[in-house]
Amino acid sequence: MARKRVAILISGRGSNMVALIEAAKEPGYPAEIVLVVSNDPAAAGLARAQEAGIPTAVVDHTPFGKDRAAFEHALQRELEAHRVDIVCLAGFMRLLTPWFVRQWDGRMLNIHPALLPAFKGLDTHRRALEAGAAEHGATVHFVVPEMDAGPIVVQGAVPVRPGDTEEALAARVLAVEHRIYPQALRLIAEGRVTVDGGICLIDGKPLPAAAKHKQT
Ligand code: GRF
Repeated sequence: MARKRVAILISGRGSNMVALIEAAKEPGYPAEIVLVVSNDPAAAGLARAQEAGIPTAVVDHTPFGKDRAAFEHALQRELEAHRVDIVCLAGFMRLLTPWFVRQWDGRMLNIHPALLPAFKGLDTHRRALEAGAAEHGATVHFVVPEMDAGPIVVQGAVPVRPGDTEEALAARVLAVEHRIYPQALRLIAEGRVTVDGGICLIDGKPLPAAAKHKQT
């Protein structure tokens, strides 16, 4: 089966992007990274993608001002020009309109640094600490118009330890992110994931508990 053509959308350092690029180098991985796009020309991830030999593009949102539709049409043109099958958001900090989300329905993933549906939005590590959560983690999910709300493909949990700082917790979660994003993309690219009533099925079965990668 032909490998799926994947674009990664970033706004920053791109460590999840690097994890996906590394995974896709493995023989037999069902996806190839054909493009990295940043909305921020200063994103550090761009240089890391170039070092890895991946074509990059910048679609700067600033000249479009409040015209999200025009920005997204420019983005869509880049994705179409590279014949992209699947889009992975990896620290991409723009909200997307329902129009754009519809173009990629069932073909766009995001990684969120919390165990959704807990802690949608920003500052997840700080909020998990403040809430006294015993467990925290990361989620790869399909993108739907509502933010951080789509069907969950893979989650990975970590313990919150006594005395944890935001930085320590973030680092523990990030290591899990780097593991579960390539795993989720593999499942999608292999066509093993279907969505039934907002729930992901893998090989026709509900998310196995084994998809949770607990760390001690
Ligand atoms: C990650 O924590 C990701 O979960 C969130 O933004 C951060 C991006 O980090 N959506 P990086 O750019 O992949 O290093």
